[in-house]
Amino acid sequence: MKVAIYPGSFDPITLGHMNIIRRAASVFDAVVICVMVNSSKHPMFSAPERVELIKKVVEDLPNVEVEQSSGLLAEYARSKGKCVIIKGLRAMSDFEKEFQMAMINKKLNPLLDTMFLSSDSEYMYLSSSVVRELARYGRDLREFVPEIIIPYIERKMKNGG
Ligand code: PNS
Repeated sequence: MKVAIYPGSFDPITLGHMNIIRRAASVFDAVVICVMVNSSKHPMFSAPERVELIKKVVEDLPNVEVEQSSGLLAEYARSKGKCVIIKGLRAMSDFEKEFQMAMINKKLNPLLDTMFLSSDSEYMYLSSSVVRELARYGRDLREFVPEIIIPYIERKMKNGG
């Protein structure tokens, strides 16, 4: 079994994330999306809410599952057995941070490799923070996130974001 873990904040999941998930799901036997804590971010959605939103949009992908962890990625990956980490790279600005994370994770868990998928060009600019910003201004989000989750984002905004 070739297993990939796709970790992230997913606050909320975007079409850019979906693009990486679909491409990873076509290469690996199983993809585990793991909603994790990024200590430099204050999420809009709680971790269980993010898991629920992601589950709604990966329903059609039978080899994709969604979990959450509040621990270290390297430890989480160890608990999964033989696997690799998948990360999406948009621009050079992502590279520095992601390369550092890949090395830290390898240091903590020497068997753990990180593989990078380059973002498809139409998603190079897209991030969850852009989505949150646009949502705050009430912009149409259909080009940026799976349509099914838009009402949840709008409701969260109405309740103070
Ligand atoms: O989508 P993000 O916010 O860029 O994802 C970053 C994330 C959540 C994958 C990263 O912060 C992470 O791995 N968090 C878990 C804790 C950890 O292992 N940190 C790296 C070692 S210091």
